[in-house]
Amino acid sequence: MARIVGGLTTSHIPAIGGAIAKKLFEDPYWKPFFDAYPKARNWLDAVKPDAAIVIYNDHGLNFFLDKMPTFAIGAADQYRNEDEGWGIPKLPPFKGDAKLSWHIIESLVAEEFDICHCQDMLVDHGFAVPMQLFWPQDPTAIPTVPVCINTVQHPMPSPMRCFKLGRAIGRAIESYPEDLKVVVVGTGGMSHQLDGTRAGFINKAFDLMCLDKIVDEPETLAKMSSLDLVREAGAQGAEFILWLAMRGALTGRVRKVHSNYHIPISNTGAGMLVLENAA
Ligand code: DHB
Ligand code: FE
Repeated sequence: MARIVGGLTTSHIPAIGGAIAKKLFEDPYWKPFFDAYPKARNWLDAVKPDAAIVIYNDHGLNFFLDKMPTFAIGAADQYRNEDEGWGIPKLPPFKGDAKLSWHIIESLVAEEFDICHCQDMLVDHGFAVPMQLFWPQDPTAIPTVPVCINTVQHPMPSPMRCFKLGRAIGRAIESYPEDLKVVVVGTGGMSHQLDGTRAGFINKAFDLMCLDKIVDEPETLAKMSSLDLVREAGAQGAEFILWLAMRGALTGRVRKVHSNYHIPISNTGAGMLVLENAA
């Protein structure tokens, strides 16, 4: 049977893709950010997951405001990246695992989560940047299942709904008959607001509280409303629901392996977390 080995989270800011392309790892602005990732990499090297569920949000590349699914899951063996206009290089296609995707989709729909399933799906920086951070040698080698949650157009799913989706994803993985080690990645966050009168808003105290509580008390965070999250973390800080979906999927004993927080990266409180999940 498949087994969930842990969860990873990281902010997915497009500027990170630019910094990777320019190899700015030792640059004083970037160093405190990039220095955290080898520790996640060491954990991945020890655990050696066979597949990654990547919970992210699309920012207008594959879904636009005219058609916005709440939950969309890729069901393909390959996912293409495209130019989003941020000036970051386009990456080669990412690998999918359509069989695992369909198992998760079937299981979620049986649990009354109505999923938009996508046999052709472009993946944007919300997916691609975390893959580059956690799998720097070859971000396109590990088979993935992209799980896309709407965080860009209201109404968004509530934090609790996303946490429960994560729970259901966890049960789906554990019922998969193949002996796969699966890691669950949640991307985005932490606090940021890119537009409006609060543009540039970052809430360090709130981010650090979330980074702490998501380890052992995720339900407390999941009880927030979407509006609470926008108020505390900014309009785009609502991406934290993706972290809650990741945390929901960890169904066993959860242990924090590593975390990092650094502000600002671009307009964002940049957070990273590695959680191990024991059966
Ligand atoms: C930024 C952060 C994001 O999450 C995003 O999707 C785009 C830009 C930023 O801080 O620049
Ligand atoms: Fe984003």
